[in-house]
Amino acid sequence: MEPLHPDKLPTHLAIIMDGNGRWAQQRMLKRIVGHQRGAETVKMVVEQASQLGIKYLTLFAFSSENWSRPPIEVRALMTLLKKYIRRETARMMRNNIRYNIIGNRSDLPEDVNQTLDEATLETAGNTGMVLTLALSYGGRQEISMAAARMARDMVAGKLSADDVTVDTFAEYLDTGGLPDPDFLIRTSGEMRISNFLLWQLAYTELYFTETNWPDFTINEFHKALADFQSRERRFGKTSDQITKRN
Ligand code: FPP
Repeated sequence: MEPLHPDKLPTHLAIIMDGNGRWAQQRMLKRIVGHQRGAETVKMVVEQASQLGIKYLTLFAFSSENWSRPPIEVRALMTLLKKYIRRETARMMRNNIRYNIIGNRSDLPEDVNQTLDEATLETAGNTGMVLTLALSYGGRQEISMAAARMARDMVAGKLSADDVTVDTFAEYLDTGGLPDPDFLIRTSGEMRISNFLLWQLAYTELYFTETNWPDFTINEFHKALADFQSRERRFGKTSDQITKRN
């Protein structure tokens, strides 16, 4: 496995877990089997990230656009999600991991919301990694909803137009309080952002791999992190300014 520097890991890692359907179809299996195998990869990545000391892990588990999939697949994904959360909460407690949910909760079935509420409450006191699940999530939807919340606060006299800065806007997003991701991994060879964390990814290092999510192994995960460690992050500055720490 690639050697990793513990002090140069991303603080916040975001992942677009893609290719479950193709993984299954290539094996003449039902798409849901791909999602089930994908859930095993989730387990590995969550445990690894937490053990490595990554503070924030955000997973794109279900997009606003995924509702247009066949109802049988949507239902199966919701059931899988519920089972995963129920089954894994004890492990989250052992690993001191806290659940956080972003996205449009009002779209989710009642029973899923209840499971999410229970898991969020149970893990609320944990002080280790924050595991954010993006569910019924879309970046444009998040930004427009943040704008609507700001407009309401302005009408209520709690906010003035002069208060609207990059920092205050960020607080109105679902991710308010989380740092922006340092690193984004997307599996399965697609080189798109697909409406994920549009605002937050402004300076994020991007990593794409051909591997489908169910085949994404611990070795591949370490390889991706080693790639991140080899990059120079300049945030618009020159290379000299970065090395002189100006
Ligand atoms: C994309 O693959 C994946 C999804 C839409 C769902 C992701 C869900 C999981 C990995 C399992 C459950 C999640 C958690 C957090 C336990 P795709 O179906 O779009 O693949 P394709 O592009 O090959 O069709």
